Amino acid sequence: MSADAAKRAAGRRAAELVSDGMTVGLGTGTTVAHTIIALGERALDITCVATSHATEQLATQVGLRLVAPDEVESLDIAVDGADEVDSELNLTKGGGGALMREKIVASLTERFVVVADDSKLVGRLGDFGTPIELMPFAPRTVARAIERLGAREVLLREGPSDNGNLLADARFGTIEDPAALSAALDAVPGLAGHGIFLGSMVERVLVDGPGGARTITAASRS
Ligand code: A5P
Repeated sequence: MSADAAKRAAGRRAAELVSDGMTVGLGTGTTVAHTIIALGERALDITCVATSHATEQLATQVGLRLVAPDEVESLDIAVDGADEVDSELNLTKGGGGALMREKIVASLTERFVVVADDSKLVGRLGDFGTPIELMPFAPRTVARAIERLGAREVLLREGPSDNGNLLADARFGTIEDPAALSAALDAVPGLAGHGIFLGSMVERVLVDGPGGARTITAASRS
């Protein structure tokens, strides 16, 4: 099974968790795009919140009803992809640059479902790098603060985020304690958001790949 086929299988499987009347958070990326397309095909009566301009565009194309996040108090479910998933369901996210909106939308639900091909499963976070969103006011100052937390380098990406901020990737190497690093990054002035999502946010991870379809929860993780 190719990575693309695995993404499609995992993404479409998540759509089966959605039923009429639900409010649904829609993540960003090539895996959750399959969820969005499958939801459009099912023509359910659902109300969705998107995590990026790209997802807004796709959801609109397939006929899903979108509202702004502030129009809902909570979401019944949110589905999103990931760049890395460790054995405690901690995630690296933000490869597509949507990390801040993704974290806000994930915070609106008790059922945050992650979809991934099995290449995303890792022992420890870090090889991918840690996506960062930072205020454009003083990017070098923010980058230096991130380096003081242990990043070997902080590479700025081209172009703005959907929020008009800057994006960067911090290289910490293997992250031994994602919760501690997450808290330290949260405390950096001018750092608007980062791509470490703690496992406590995640209800389940739907994974597909050559090994077949798997559902990983905090209870079932190996
Ligand atoms: C978007 O900013 C990311 O968090 C994506 O969810 C993540 O990069 C996974 O993307 P793919 O599903 O395209 O691999």
